[in-house]
Amino acid sequence: MKLRYFSHSGFQITTNDGQRILIDPFLDGNPTSPVNVSDIEADFILITHGHGDHLGDTLDIAKRCNSLCICENELGNYLASKGVRVHNMHIGGAHEFDFGKIKLTQALHGSTTPDNECHGSATGILVYTEGKTIYHMGDTGLFSDLKLIGEMNKVDILLAPIGDNFTMGIEDAVKACEFVRPKMVIPIHYNTFPVIKTDPGIFKQKVEQQGIACQILAFGQEITL
Ligand code: NI
Ligand code: MN
Repeated sequence: MKLRYFSHSGFQITTNDGQRILIDPFLDGNPTSPVNVSDIEADFILITHGHGDHLGDTLDIAKRCNSLCICENELGNYLASKGVRVHNMHIGGAHEFDFGKIKLTQALHGSTTPDNECHGSATGILVYTEGKTIYHMGDTGLFSDLKLIGEMNKVDILLAPIGDNFTMGIEDAVKACEFVRPKMVIPIHYNTFPVIKTDPGIFKQKVEQQGIACQILAFGQEITL
């Protein structure tokens, strides 16, 4: 499969059989995104929570591509009310889709939509596809149940926020990696705006001292897993 990073928390997974799965597609309002919303097509859209920098362009893409949106229940009801296809889930629950399995985890964060209509729970997302486990942490502070998530899942790729202020900063994100013990971590949610400016190179150095590989992706970069 391929994993492409759009900056901030946005990714596209493309499976070997060509299914396109977006995560947190914040593109047109994102000053660091290398792509426009009109360039993107998706079969599935995974959304960690309702904040504008994660919900992003979900409605535009889902309406144009007839994508299936997968997210927490309250946000799912909100998206359904806007006329898009939704599969509602909630924290702790897993479900099999065509491309693999999704499980939602807790995230220590809020989830109000930009229009203030929906107040659900923020989540992380475990994606199990083509023999790999990808854990997108969403926006979250540090919590010790990450140890449990790490014990119960052999996480190949951890997508961990490091930008501080709204989420974990570098020090807490390193501790999160020690709890989850992924094969590799990719730092996210930094340098989009001045308030979350940080140096991912410092994170890479500190987390590699703990024996965990780290790859810093350029905004727009695609890697093969
Ligand atoms: Ni947020
Ligand atoms: Mn955010």
